[in-house]
Amino acid sequence: MNRQRITVAAIALALAAFPAAALVANNAQAQDVPVTELFQKKCLTCHSPTAAPNLKGPDLKGVFGKSIAAQKGYAYSDGLKAKASMKWTAANLDAYLTKPKDFAPGTKMIPSVGDAAQRKAIIEHMKGLK
Ligand code: HEC
Repeated sequence: MNRQRITVAAIALALAAFPAAALVANNAQAQDVPVTELFQKKCLTCHSPTAAPNLKGPDLKGVFGKSIAAQKGYAYSDGLKAKASMKWTAANLDAYLTKPKDFAPGTKMIPSVGDAAQRKAIIEHMKGLK
């Protein structure tokens, strides 16, 4: 047997002995996508994180805890304006990001975030947009 084969066999043995460890490592990797990267990919194509400008969607500066549909100078849908007496609490943001049209029928925002852990991380991140 040459040296390479021995190495391969040793790795196979190690994986066979610790399949659970390998699985845990994979899960950790999936959840370890930094929230800044998630936010960049999933949100910042349509939203600015600072006061200006409004892009396809309204800017998200200070949106956490603020009244719904209250960013300056943005033409909201009637669907979101109908919610204007409510605030963007964590629960409301979670519901909106889960299924925008269920939370605010008629909203112009199409994308959603199916993964609960990702929603939570994104909402935490939005608290910091001041
Ligand atoms: C394809 C474009 C697009 C993407 C991507 C997108 N949004 Fe939106 N978003 C919109 C639009 C358009 C609105 C305005 C909705 C309306 O007026 O009904 C909106 C509205 C919002 C609002 C309400 C703001 C307010 O002032 O009341 C929040 C909060 C929000 N988006 C968060 C997010 C987050 C977080 C992400 C990423 C997970 C995201 N959006 C991704 C287009 C997008």
